[in-house]
Amino acid sequence: MAFYLVTGGAGFIGSHLTEELARRGHRVRVVDDLSTGHRRNLAHLGGVEFIEGDLADLEVARRAVAGVEFVLHQAAIPSVPRSVTDPLTSHRANADATLNVLLAARDEGVRRLVYAGSSSAYGETPTLPKVETMRTATLSPYALQKLMGEQYCQLFTQLYGFQAVTIRYFNVFGPRQDPSSPYSGVISLFISAICDGRAPTICGDGEQTRDFTYVSNVVDGVLRASEAPGVAGEVINVATGGRISINALFRALRDLIGVDVAPIYGPARAGDVRDSQADIGKARRLLGYEPAVGFEDGLRKTVDWYRASQVTTA
Ligand code: UD1
Repeated sequence: MAFYLVTGGAGFIGSHLTEELARRGHRVRVVDDLSTGHRRNLAHLGGVEFIEGDLADLEVARRAVAGVEFVLHQAAIPSVPRSVTDPLTSHRANADATLNVLLAARDEGVRRLVYAGSSSAYGETPTLPKVETMRTATLSPYALQKLMGEQYCQLFTQLYGFQAVTIRYFNVFGPRQDPSSPYSGVISLFISAICDGRAPTICGDGEQTRDFTYVSNVVDGVLRASEAPGVAGEVINVATGGRISINALFRALRDLIGVDVAPIYGPARAGDVRDSQADIGKARRLLGYEPAVGFEDGLRKTVDWYRASQVTTA
């Protein structure tokens, strides 16, 4: 049994990590400011410690890491468009808080930190799939802040010998992804709209593509990264390895849900990447990672969950 801190553990991905760690019998503490997370995401789990606080405050970070062996740093404001509208708030949550968590974890003697990086780091680099050796080309404050976090992780390994690993997430989806904000992930927004018989909005021509990744695959990749030997300082894609357009995603969800709505086409988003698809060879090699749940299976599980929980937008 080990002692893990999950920052952002009341959020979508963080709560899945917390659940799996608890299932494996680990001791877990969560720190979350509940800005996008919810206490209800952890309500079904017993024995998880909870600290409500903002990691942009170094003292909160120090309190959160006290005594822990591993940190899974998930806390963030995870939205490209929100960062375009309000870069300062986003910077505090994504960049300042990350430096605080790294400093606190280093000083506490934490064994390893796994950082939630983002595929947005690749930006508009023309080649697909995206390999970790490619140059980065950030298109939004969010992408830049997330990239800064992973570069801090690498520096902490180089300068202080602190074990930090970045997992670059590619458009994660699944149960508990909250559709209640216009900044929510597209799959949660589309499912809740279609289930309610409302027209989803497709931004731009809908031919942009994404490598959508079911959340349990990400949990698996992150937990492997917390244990695998020799990965300190690495940046590793975790994804499904395919890609689908937003138009095709809409059709797949409409057919799965069985409600005949037509989408509305709106303007393309500032800072939006055109195409995204991961090469997952490095995760396979270093972590023994395989995406166990495919895209279609993941969509089905997610739709089932939304139906059962009747989560809808306001
Ligand atoms: C980006 C990152 C991802 C990161 C996430 C955090 C890339 C390739 N991916 O996701 O790694 O974790 O930010 O939020 O940069 N869309 C619609 N209608 C909607 C909402 C979205 O058409 O109502 C479109 C967007 O324009 C975009 C796609 O769907 O092209 C996906 O959007 P979203 O789910 O917000 O994620 P990304 O911004 O791609």
